[in-house]
Amino acid sequence: MRSIFETTTLNNGVKMPWLGLGVYKAENGKEIVDTIKEAVLNGYRSIDTAAVYENEEGVGQALREIDVPREQMFITTKVWNDRQGFDETLKAFEESREKLGVDVVDLYLVHWPVTGMFKETWRAMEKLYKEGRVRAIGVSNFNIHHLEKLLEDAEVIPAVNQMEYHPLLTLPELHVYCKEKGIQLEAWSPLTRGRIFDRPELVSIAEKHGKSPAQVILRWDLQNEVVTIPKSVTPSRIKQNAQIFDFELDEQDMNTLNGMNENHRFSQDPDTFV
Ligand SMILES: NC(=O)c1ccc[n+]([C@@H]2O[C@H](COP(=O)([O-])OP(=O)(O)OC[C@H]3O[C@@H](n4cnc5c(N)ncnc54)[C@H](OP(=O)(O)O)[C@@H]3O)[C@@H](O)[C@H]2O)c1
Repeated sequence: MRSIFETTTLNNGVKMPWLGLGVYKAENGKEIVDTIKEAVLNGYRSIDTAAVYENEEGVGQALREIDVPREQMFITTKVWNDRQGFDETLKAFEESREKLGVDVVDLYLVHWPVTGMFKETWRAMEKLYKEGRVRAIGVSNFNIHHLEKLLEDAEVIPAVNQMEYHPLLTLPELHVYCKEKGIQLEAWSPLTRGRIFDRPELVSIAEKHGKSPAQVILRWDLQNEVVTIPKSVTPSRIKQNAQIFDFELDEQDMNTLNGMNENHRFSQDPDTFV
């Protein structure tokens, strides 16, 4: 992977950038607009938001103010847990779409697998997809058993599963399962919000390549064929996180990083999240 413009082809043929900008906790208004403008200048073409982040309007404003044509941008948003079910999901989608100010959303995700609801939510996602309101539909925080349940009567296979994923949580079984089903794995909190940057294995690989631990993790995502969406509102970090296409981790680096897995979650477990 040599360029920030490289994409993965989802299971319906839609192309999604391997690197995107996460905007959880980016404040609606000037902060998010400036952040997206900075990201776009650095080559980012994909933005990951959600209804619950309460910054979709800011994403929409930035989209209108940048010089990049809409069709070159890839916008992901998500239906939040209190809006799941068939009718509510359709309404929530329309609210998100209006806030974003777009005709079509590139990727719409079920944010969490709300027990007893997510199948009905998925029916609504399928309707939106079939009507061309979204270019692709997917899920987030779905473990294998959630996906198995969803696939029992799904007409459309999710294009993406967005999960907490980093060197301490590599989800090996889920990754294999997703590959078998043609579901693209995407990493949220890829940088663990900075919690593992001082790990000796990471520091030594970073020093070897003259890169930061953050850049090593993001490069490792790409080489594991995982879409990654680091968040930053800091111009120097936005730039740094995009400079991951000019070096390559060797087999030993990859083995070391893959070997750091401790099945450790810093955030909520989908099986116990309420
Ligand atoms: N589907 C889900 O349930 C879910 C859950 C969580 C997150 N997400 C998505 O995933 C995205 C990324 O995850 P995240 O925001 O939780 O965490 P993250 O990307 O792992 O880390 C972001 C934090 O790290 C800092 N940072 C960024 N780049 C850095 C660098 N090069 N060096 C040092 N520090 C750096 C940022 O600070 P500054 O901003 O201050 O620069 C921010 O505090 C979110 O924004 C959201 O879009 C999805």
